[in-house]
Amino acid sequence: MKKRFLSLAGYAVLFVTIAAIITVAIMVFDAVNSAYDGNKGVLSVVMLVTIAFLALVCTVIDAVRRKITVERPTERILEATQKIASGDFTARVFVAHPYSRYDEYDRIADNINKMAAELSRTEVVHNDFISNVSHELKTPLSVLQSYAAAIQREDLDAETRRHYAQVIVSASKRLSGLVTNILKLNKLENQELSPQYGKVRLDEMLAQSLLRFEEKMDEKGLIPECDLEEVTVVSDADFLEIVWDNLLSNAIKFTESGGKIGVSVRAERGQAVVKISDTGCGISAETGRHIFDKFYQGETSHAQEGNGLGLSLVKKVIDILGGEIAVESEVGKGSTFIVKLKGESA
Ligand SMILES: Nc1ncnc2c1ncn2[C@@H]1O[C@H](COP(=O)(O)OP(=O)(O)OP(=O)(O)O)[C@@H](O)[C@H]1O
Ligand SMILES: [Mg+2]
Repeated sequence: MKKRFLSLAGYAVLFVTIAAIITVAIMVFDAVNSAYDGNKGVLSVVMLVTIAFLALVCTVIDAVRRKITVERPTERILEATQKIASGDFTARVFVAHPYSRYDEYDRIADNINKMAAELSRTEVVHNDFISNVSHELKTPLSVLQSYAAAIQREDLDAETRRHYAQVIVSASKRLSGLVTNILKLNKLENQELSPQYGKVRLDEMLAQSLLRFEEKMDEKGLIPECDLEEVTVVSDADFLEIVWDNLLSNAIKFTESGGKIGVSVRAERGQAVVKISDTGCGISAETGRHIFDKFYQGETSHAQEGNGLGLSLVKKVIDILGGEIAVESEVGKGSTFIVKLKGESA
């Protein structure tokens, strides 16, 4: 409303200026007419010249007005959009007025600046993503290459050959895990995967997830501890499986043999609260700030398998399902991941 008033005021000033010029000219012409007794033909010429002069003055006023209010901001916008279109996302349009006095051009400029900033952010994320993926692909690929070459040697004894074969299997598993996680994350981010809601018994799901990791826990001598209340939520079982599997795989991976892995679920104030805990190496405050970032791996995980995509997937899924995730941890004592899901139904 204020904006409309301001532009009306601009037109009113233009109108009053032109009216004043015409009035003064008519008054001058009238004064000359009454004072002049000679040839009226000369008066007609004076009138024509006056009209031409007035038209010229109005044209100049309009040209100056157009230059300031239309052409200059349009040129600024054109110049910046050409740069952005050719890939220079650092280009910005100058915004002429303070925010409280924005006109339409300032709004367009502001929106273009926001788009350019977003494009530049996306470009950085995209480049980081490509360099991270290439880096993560390189390690298992070079392992595959050197062990596949070594296994062909004829002088190898059976035991060494078996060991090399195991290394090749584990490197290819790592590669396929990486590609699966990238594809899943990509689909979730592009909203190609949307949740299919249905009733899900969390206690049953968690028990099944634990069963899938039974062998790994046995191998490492880890002791599972369960406290599973019967809790049902309306959610997507496939999405939730990603969450439990990644949290459990981390708990097992980062816990030394003889440690404990705890899984619990209970209903609290209309929410389902799932806790997955371990007595492993724990997470420092600095690591804790980045664990949900793509490809981030803490200082304790360099000797471990993985690509740092698990928790990014978990976070994305929880966001899509409208839940919350938090972590409590103490270095050297262990970690507890707490997931809260809304819509607990009895
Ligand atoms: N239970 C845990 N105990 C200690 N550190 C953990 C735990 N869970 C996660 N972390 C830390 O958070 C980092 C990120 O975890 P995330 O699951 O995203 O990656 P990852 O397990 O290293 O690899 P991936 O999940 O791709 O196999 C880990 O590298 C580790 O440093
Ligand atoms: Mg993980």
